[in-house]
Amino acid sequence: MDQNNPLQTAEHVVASDLDYITRQAGAEFARLSGRRLTIAGGAGFLGYYLVQSALHWNRRNPGSAPIDLIVLDSFVRGVPDWLTALESDPNLTLVRHDVTEAPPAVLGDLDYLIHAASIASPIYYRQHPIETMDANVGGLRHFLDYAMRQKQKGRPLSGILFYSSSEIYGDPTPDQIPTPETYRGNVSCTGPRACYDESKRYGETLCVNFTRQHGLPIKVARPFNNYGPGLKISDRRVIPDFARDILNGRDIVMLSDGAAMRTFCYSADAIAGYYKTLVNGRPGEAYNIGVETPEISMLELADRMVALGTELFGYRGRLVRKESEDKDYLVDNPNRRCPVITKARTELGYDPQVTLDEGLRRSLVWYSGNREAADL
Ligand SMILES: NC(=O)c1ccc[n+]([C@@H]2O[C@H](COP(=O)([O-])OP(=O)(O)OC[C@H]3O[C@@H](n4cnc5c(N)ncnc54)[C@H](O)[C@@H]3O)[C@@H](O)[C@H]2O)c1
Repeated sequence: MDQNNPLQTAEHVVASDLDYITRQAGAEFARLSGRRLTIAGGAGFLGYYLVQSALHWNRRNPGSAPIDLIVLDSFVRGVPDWLTALESDPNLTLVRHDVTEAPPAVLGDLDYLIHAASIASPIYYRQHPIETMDANVGGLRHFLDYAMRQKQKGRPLSGILFYSSSEIYGDPTPDQIPTPETYRGNVSCTGPRACYDESKRYGETLCVNFTRQHGLPIKVARPFNNYGPGLKISDRRVIPDFARDILNGRDIVMLSDGAAMRTFCYSADAIAGYYKTLVNGRPGEAYNIGVETPEISMLELADRMVALGTELFGYRGRLVRKESEDKDYLVDNPNRRCPVITKARTELGYDPQVTLDEGLRRSLVWYSGNREAADL
């Protein structure tokens, strides 16, 4: 690897990404200064940079009142090492909590709340469909009731962010690719993925109606295939699956014909977008957060990752096809997923900059430096 390349280690990647996020969303972090923010599901993939970027902003702005952060998570997979390492930060409180229970008293009077607690990987939500629905519907309802109580006692929240998903669009018809927020979706309500898609859809319906009826400042993000540091290599999503094969020096296994098309959004860009949605989003509105280009097939993704693996680690494997043993693996899997992000660009100032090759390179460097944390 090029010794002069500043992003040659996982630490470099994370430090550079945190600088980037706090620059991209500098004005939004300034609005959170001195405020109390809870991130539910903060131990997960998106939590990795949501949490670290807020604490990074605190450290970089010692003259400003710090963001006071509470992370709620069920920690079903244990407390991750990166979060344990931050435990002594005076502006961070970690709370073990299942969001399907009423919010804990430790929340106190929050200013901002992010609900990102849900199983997000298709393999795992199909194994735990009821828990997935409960977190997105019952869990959300608990937070909305808490926000109502805060409003009634004269201490209303300034912003609530609900994580929906691009999966609410289901399998869009060709004329709806790229997909704008106005598209209503083509979704099965009983298929193997319905527990996720439909609970996100109902979650959004709860959000708009609590905004309309009670004036709660709820904003909705619809993430499109985020990837990057913090995404567990065992999460069974496509990029970590390929990364695991590359780092283990074995052939990349493709479980489909490789024709499905996706756009992939690097997490540092997406996280800036989520903070912008929380702070600048219009209440009751949903925003696509992703990238519009390039839209690539899984075959092309594998080729790009093989080329990067060869360049970075001297990888010598190739692509092989296998049929998944899971008969539902591809049922209701959308053929194409590509967003229109004009609404987020114009209303929020969202401006993703990291190219796919650069994001994949950073991800591979991060995985290679986090072999243990990444469950290799
Ligand atoms: N990553 C993506 O590309 C993507 C795409 C679309 C939507 N989303 C949504 O964004 C949010 C975060 O996704 P992620 O990729 O970080 O997922 P993740 O699985 O990596 O993290 C989710 C976290 O939520 C926690 N959690 C799950 N159920 C819980 C419960 N009942 N109580 C408390 N904690 C619970 C888990 O322990 C985990 O730490 C989710 O709502 C997901 O549906 C993510």
